[in-house]
Amino acid sequence: MSKKDVLNVGIDLGTSRSSISASNGARHVVESYVGWPVDMVARKVVKKAIVFGREALENRPMLDLHRPLERGLIKEGSPKDEAAVRELLKHLIGLAGAGDGVKVNAVVGVPAEALRVSRQHLRAAVKGVADALMIVSEPFAVAYGMEALLHTMIIDIGAGTTDFCVMNGRYPGEEDQRTLTHAGDFIDEQLMVLVKNKHPEARFTIHTVREWKERLGFVGDAPAPVTVNVTVGQRPAQLDITAEMKRACESIVAPIVETMLDLLSRVDPDYQAAVRQNVILAGGGSALKGLPAVIEKALNEVGGGRVRSVEDPVYQGSNGGLAIALDAPAEDWEQLGG
Ligand SMILES: Nc1ncnc2c1ncn2[C@@H]1O[C@H](COP(=O)(O)OP(=O)(O)OP(=O)(O)O)[C@@H](O)[C@H]1O
Ligand SMILES: [Mg+2]
Repeated sequence: MSKKDVLNVGIDLGTSRSSISASNGARHVVESYVGWPVDMVARKVVKKAIVFGREALENRPMLDLHRPLERGLIKEGSPKDEAAVRELLKHLIGLAGAGDGVKVNAVVGVPAEALRVSRQHLRAAVKGVADALMIVSEPFAVAYGMEALLHTMIIDIGAGTTDFCVMNGRYPGEEDQRTLTHAGDFIDEQLMVLVKNKHPEARFTIHTVREWKERLGFVGDAPAPVTVNVTVGQRPAQLDITAEMKRACESIVAPIVETMLDLLSRVDPDYQAAVRQNVILAGGGSALKGLPAVIEKALNEVGGGRVRSVEDPVYQGSNGGLAIALDAPAEDWEQLGG
C-alpha cells in the first residue's frame, strides 16, 4: 500500500467531548453524546438513525442518550455504551474524511487508569473502525504534542477524570501516572447539591450547572459576585451563588495538589526542581479562573515552581496523538486486521 493511502489520526476520547486531528489537516470536536431515536415517532422527527454531540443533547427527550465514558472508562457490561463508543469513533474518523480504501492508523488517548482496565473494550470498539491502533494515556499525548518530554508534569483536568503524568524523556510507566475522579463532573455535582440545598425551590438541570461553571467558575478570590437566573417556583429569579461556586470549584484543588506533591516526591531528587518549574495544566478544567495560581502557591511549600495552562485545551490531546502517530515506528502499532 502506498503512503498516501494511509490516514494518521490522533483521537482524544473524552468524557465530555472527543476530538480528532488527522494527517490531512482535518480537526473536529464532538461532545461525547450518542443517541438513538427511541421509537418510530422519534425517528421521524430527528430523521436520523443515530445522532451525535450537541444535536443529541438537544434532542434528548426523543433519544436513548448515552455518554459512554463516564468517569473516564467505557462503562463496562453495557453493550449500548460499547456500541456508542464505537459509533463515536466511527463518526469522528468519518468527519476527518477517511474514504474507502484508506488505511487508518489511530492513536487514541484515554485516561491513565483506563489503560489498565478498559484496553480490551477499547480495542473491541476500534476494531473495524481503524486498521492500526495505539492506546496512550491522555496526558502523555498532551506532553508529546507540546514536546514537553523531559522534566515536566502534565495535569489534564477533564470532565470525568484528572490525569497526571510525569515525563522523564521516555514512555511514561504506571508509576509516573495517576488518575483522580476529581474533575469537571465532580464540580458540577457539588455545585448542583450546594445550590439545591440553599434554594430548594429553584429549578435547573446539571447541564445548566455546567454552563454556570464554565462561564463563572473560579478558585481563590472571587473576581466578581456570581449571579445566575433561574426559575423559582413559577417565577424567574436571580440567585447569588458566589459562595457555592467557590466551594464547588475548590473541591478539586486539595486532591489535585496532594497527588501532584506525591508524584513530585517520587521524582529523582536531582530533577525535582526542574519538574516543579514545568507543571502544565491541560483539559477543559485548566480554564478555571485562578487555578494555576493556587496550584503554584502549593508548590511554594516545597521550594517553588511554575504552573501554566495550555493554549488550546480542545485539540491539545488529539494533536499530540497525531504527532505520536506520525513518529511511531511500525513495531509500536497494534495491527487490528479485519
Ligand atoms: N472555562 C471553563 N472553566 C471551567 N471548566 C471548564 C471550562 N470549560 C470547560 N470546562 C470543563 O472541562 C471539562 C471538559 O474538559 P475536557 O474536554 O478536557 O474533558 P474530557 O476530555 O471530555 O474528559 P476526560 O478527560 O475526563 O475524559 C468539563 O467538565 C467542562 O465543564
Ligand atoms: Mg480529556
